[in-house]
Amino acid sequence: MNLPEQVTIYEVGPRDGLQNEKTAIPVEVKAEFIGRLADAGLKTIEATSFVHPKWVPQLADADELLKRMDRRPGVSYPVLVPNERGMGRALAAGVGEIAIFASATESFAQRNLNRSMDEQYAMFEPVVSRALAEGMRVRVYLSMAFGDPWEGDVPVPQVVAAGKRLLEMGCYQLSLGDTIGVGTAGHVQELIAAFGDPAALAVHFHDTYGQALANTLAALQSGVTTVDASAGGLGGCPYAESATGNLATEDLVWMLDGLGIRHGVSLDSLVETSTWMAGRLGRPSPSRVVTARSNS
Ligand code: HMG
Ligand code: MG
Repeated sequence: MNLPEQVTIYEVGPRDGLQNEKTAIPVEVKAEFIGRLADAGLKTIEATSFVHPKWVPQLADADELLKRMDRRPGVSYPVLVPNERGMGRALAAGVGEIAIFASATESFAQRNLNRSMDEQYAMFEPVVSRALAEGMRVRVYLSMAFGDPWEGDVPVPQVVAAGKRLLEMGCYQLSLGDTIGVGTAGHVQELIAAFGDPAALAVHFHDTYGQALANTLAALQSGVTTVDASAGGLGGCPYAESATGNLATEDLVWMLDGLGIRHGVSLDSLVETSTWMAGRLGRPSPSRVVTARSNS
């Protein structure tokens, strides 16, 4: 089936998952969530965002969370940083790795960043230079890579041009974001092939239309080996109303186990953590694996 032997799971639950929650989540619950995810074997856990607190009030406690988090050796805790102000805050909080987040469309650049597409590059450039000078790795997300709620279809060459420009800034990895979950497997393979080389690519699927797992398999068959997922399928995007949660980490782990692909994560402790988190949020997890396990 042309599949990798090993996959890196990039956990986004504490950031992408919790940024869209209606209820306020205490900072100590977030810190415990992150600790439990590390205990389950996740080695990359996106912790929070240093964005404008008025834009994403759910993550306004980023500075406090970084103080409280128990950082384990061998685990990285990247955070989202949009601009120099965010970078200053991240450095003061002792962050060791960041991700910037760009848009493949004009509409979402305006709504998510208050910038045009061209202006977004100007905003990110000093952030990337500073991070690299500090010895950090920088990841970049490219949102609306498979479709946009305001513009509809997003041409593949437009996505590739934006993605390559961002990688050329010095980012080590480009995560292709299906922000509203409209992509399908053939589209995934077409987009990855259009980049030429999948080595620097990761995939970030929201599961709005139930395609996240099929799209992941298509990406793995196209040579991608880093997959973003959110424990319990938490998530959405506050600036793209139609977006639902990310691919659930448990559902990804179940598929990888079935395929014999190594990933280093314990399904049992992950399910336990997502069940615990669902209790804190007051609603069941949308993950199929968590649901199946809680019914068995
Ligand atoms: P802006 O209002 O244009 O900012 O927001 P500005 O540069 O004009 O500054 C205005 C004021 O905000 C200034 O204060 C700044 O200091 C302050 P004043 O001088 O007026 O007192 N400010 C900040 N304060 C704290 N932290 C900061 C910060 N920046 C400015 N970082 C900005 C521009 C980019 C900041 C804003 O649009 C923003 O925060 N956007 C973030 C939106 C967001 O987080 N969206 C969700 C993440 S993206 C996502 O979920 C997609 C993804 O999962 C992939 C996928 O699914 O596709 C990654
Ligand atoms: Mg997302």
